[in-house]
Amino acid sequence: MIKEIKRPPLSKPSPSALDPREFRQVLGTFTTGVTVITARGQDNTLAGVTANSFNSVSMDPPLVLWSLARKSNSLDTFASAEHWAVHILAHDQDNISSHFARSVSGQEKFADINYENGLDNTPLLSGCTARLQCRTKNIYDGGDHIILVGEVITYDKCDTPPLVFQKGSYAIATNTSQTIEPPAGEDLRNSSDKSPIGYLLATAYLNFSAKTKAQAEKLNLNGAEYLILSALGTREGRTYHEIITLAGYAGTNVGPEAINDLVARGYIQIFDKEDSLSPEDDHAKIGLTPDGRLAVEKIFKESELVEAEIMQKLGTPEAIALRYLLSKFVKTYSPSIPYRWF
Ligand SMILES: Cc1cc2nc3c(=O)[nH]c(=O)nc-3n(C[C@H](O)[C@H](O)[C@H](O)COP(=O)(O)O)c2cc1C
Repeated sequence: MIKEIKRPPLSKPSPSALDPREFRQVLGTFTTGVTVITARGQDNTLAGVTANSFNSVSMDPPLVLWSLARKSNSLDTFASAEHWAVHILAHDQDNISSHFARSVSGQEKFADINYENGLDNTPLLSGCTARLQCRTKNIYDGGDHIILVGEVITYDKCDTPPLVFQKGSYAIATNTSQTIEPPAGEDLRNSSDKSPIGYLLATAYLNFSAKTKAQAEKLNLNGAEYLILSALGTREGRTYHEIITLAGYAGTNVGPEAINDLVARGYIQIFDKEDSLSPEDDHAKIGLTPDGRLAVEKIFKESELVEAEIMQKLGTPEAIALRYLLSKFVKTYSPSIPYRWF
């Protein structure tokens, strides 16, 4: 028996004359990938159009389709081209999508784009999740669009996650399997889609800060010292006050003793000051020594390893989505904290 989910009733059916804006919004709830489809016309004109109407049709023979607005500048080129190429854009190619969605001539669209030539000299873009080179099979009427059906002649692909389009915005897809499910009979609030967000954030933070602590211990640094070196590693010459504030965002107290200890160990130097730092030296500027730079290099290398491990364990799209969601969370809940505090 499939579990029934209770939802508010759908809005009333629209009157028979569709409101174009509302109709577009309804269609926009259907989440798609994003493609750029390219062709070279008989007269050598280049065409490239961003399209999310792309879809698969048949496995045998291998057929795909998409629809092109009749008002498109590229209509004649696509209607007469024997071949066209579908580029399934990667998650970081939203700029390419916007570029090919501009209503300018093909010549202008390709002016500052690197491409190679595929079948029939069709322009092929790079950096995509997948590319399918197709031969035009049929063209059908589709109201204010034409529907192009193509036979896939060849394709190539890579593991980069695709770009997603949802309700008029670019997005990234993560899969929802492999999340926490409570054992039978346990409180459902423990399952991933019901767990309190605060609990998940706190647990993630606790687990993760244990990892950072272990990293710091490897370098014989305490939490405050680790943060001071990380902060100076991204920008030197910060003031003591700035370092205290940045460490505060991460919930760590930095006192003058942590600074003085790092000076004594030869990792940092206080500019324009002979003796040790005192709490009122708010504006004293601090920099790294050559040994300090070496320690920072080790810290950053360790952090890269941790990032790579997260990417590998969670999956690349999930790790990217996590980064987006957490930065959105930080921006929304702590607007005074700079996006990248360090
Ligand atoms: C995400 C996205 C998806 C789009 N999908 C389509 C589509 O499937 N068909 C279409 O004709 N136009 C689509 N467009 C609009 C065209 O990319 C845009 O009108 C483009 O300027 C057409 O180029 P042209 O008029 O220079 O040929 C889409 C635009 C975006 C941003």
